[in-house]
Amino acid sequence: MLETDAVIRHICFGAGAATVFGLFKKITICDRSAKINILTLEGYLVYDQTMTGYLQKQPYFGAVVGRVANRIAKGTFTLDGKEYQLAINNGPNSLHGGVRGFDKVLWTPQVLSNGVEFSRVSPDGEEGYPGELKVWVTYTLDGGELVINYRAQASQTTPVNLTNHSYFNLAGQGSPNIYDHEVTIEADAFLPVDETLIPTGEVAPVQGTAFDLRKPVELGKHLQEFHMNGFDHNFCLKGSKEKRFCARVHHAGSGRVLEVYTTQPGVQFYTGNFLDGTLKGKSGAVYPKHSGFCLETQNWPDAVNQPHFPPVLLKPGEEYDHTTWFKFSVA
Ligand code: BGC
Repeated sequence: MLETDAVIRHICFGAGAATVFGLFKKITICDRSAKINILTLEGYLVYDQTMTGYLQKQPYFGAVVGRVANRIAKGTFTLDGKEYQLAINNGPNSLHGGVRGFDKVLWTPQVLSNGVEFSRVSPDGEEGYPGELKVWVTYTLDGGELVINYRAQASQTTPVNLTNHSYFNLAGQGSPNIYDHEVTIEADAFLPVDETLIPTGEVAPVQGTAFDLRKPVELGKHLQEFHMNGFDHNFCLKGSKEKRFCARVHHAGSGRVLEVYTTQPGVQFYTGNFLDGTLKGKSGAVYPKHSGFCLETQNWPDAVNQPHFPPVLLKPGEEYDHTTWFKFSVA
């Protein structure tokens, strides 16, 4: 557990008696009257010390997702003339690294002065991916900012796309929905998807569509106005690999604000459309549809099969290095 200043009170990481997952379990922050709430959803069918409930059925609450976050069409791709077949775990596609992705494996922790580093070696062939991959994920706290840095090195050319899959509800976890959250995403374009949520290949302007979130929208009203089931889409961020503003979410009731900055070229905005209320949090909270949102900063989905998307291949001798900043404040 990391303890910090007045805005972020503490962050808990996932660890049972003998197990360490590279995820964070909860983040606790104040509202404008200094009331403390846990903001991230943490659901376990059976919560226990070994976190077996976590492994049984869990929509990636707080997890590090990899080797490739998001979907790869039919779980296949061709690299240097060789076809690779990945584990299929989402309709016809491979999602979030496969059946046993980076969210379901043990990591080695190391305590830092202002955070914690998790590392692991993903073996050659894990879930069908080529080459061994060494991965380091560090969580550090800097005032009201949680900084997540991802680094990786490969022994063979392989696709890599790492993200964090925390679900937030700025009214406090266990609040029934996120409809009163105001959302802004700094993106001029998004990726339309097919019925299996694979990008069609088109990079569509947001202008004049429900995906224009460049000015704040109140989520509930916006979904109603556009007759939408929710968001589960990649937004294409502007600029190059510098730290850039990605998104801002404001909850007027508590005054809480989450701002996201990243070096990544995209963000998957997911409004918990598949949450179905069957998971229970430690305090008995239930998580129905739309009870949390994710801002998964990452490369664009299926980039390994779509040559006009930002490059996703990591070659031996290169280093994958991306950072995302979750900045909490009270307005
Ligand atoms: C995906 C959703 C998926 C969720 C949990 C998100 O990143 O975009 O489609 O249901 O993860 O699996």
